[in-house]
Amino acid sequence: MTREPRYSTEPADRDAYTRRNDRLYTRFAGVYDAAVKASPVWRRWLSNVLPEIRGPRVLEVSFGTGWLLTRYAGRFRTDGIDLNPALIAVARRNLARAGVWAELRQGPVEALPYPDATFDTVVNTMAFTGYPDASAAASELARVLKPGGRLVLVDIGYPRDRNRWGTFLVDRVWKPFGDLVRDMPAVLSAASFQVEEREIGGWGSVHLFIASKQVGDTRSP
Ligand SMILES: C[S@@+](CC[C@H](N)C(=O)[O-])C[C@H]1O[C@@H](n2cnc3c(N)ncnc32)[C@H](O)[C@@H]1O
Repeated sequence: MTREPRYSTEPADRDAYTRRNDRLYTRFAGVYDAAVKASPVWRRWLSNVLPEIRGPRVLEVSFGTGWLLTRYAGRFRTDGIDLNPALIAVARRNLARAGVWAELRQGPVEALPYPDATFDTVVNTMAFTGYPDASAAASELARVLKPGGRLVLVDIGYPRDRNRWGTFLVDRVWKPFGDLVRDMPAVLSAASFQVEEREIGGWGSVHLFIASKQVGDTRSP
């Protein structure tokens, strides 16, 4: 049996989609924090990012409660941005407890408040499938990277071999949660990245992308 990927379409009302998710994050910020801390599988997926980070300047977009930041922010000059104030407040506490510092701000991925070509690495985990405009998000992530810099992204996607369990997780777990599952190599290539992809868990439904901004690419979207 072939299981063709059924990619999501972008929501008709993008602001409404983001507002709905944002309300849920505000309501469940504490639960989200506890769930990440209690889930070795989630932490293992995120940890795949760590050996791929290059400094000196690192930005994490949509850091949530900041668990991943606590693992690397002490080693780089690190900035972070997230849309949700309640999650940011939890992340600040987590960073303080871990004794590490990062410059955290509130704002949307679609309009990052950083100049072009600022960062060596941009980190983004389990968040891209929650952005309602993939093309706007990917070009903003590309814009703030230095040429030769890399986007290190973990998120949900169809398993390449279309195996039963990975496909089931995408279609029956992630998408019903509201995740927008896309052909990420195509999305990232359209934003002029060179893309390397690895499957890192969930029967091939969790992917790590190392997307390099090509040297000589001075394109501003
Ligand atoms: C599922 S959580 C992932 C958090 C963390 N990166 C992790 O892996 O556990 C999704 C995150 O994306 C953020 N987010 C959603 N829409 C956003 C947007 N338009 N701009 C910036 N961040 C956004 C949410 O506030 C939330 O922190």
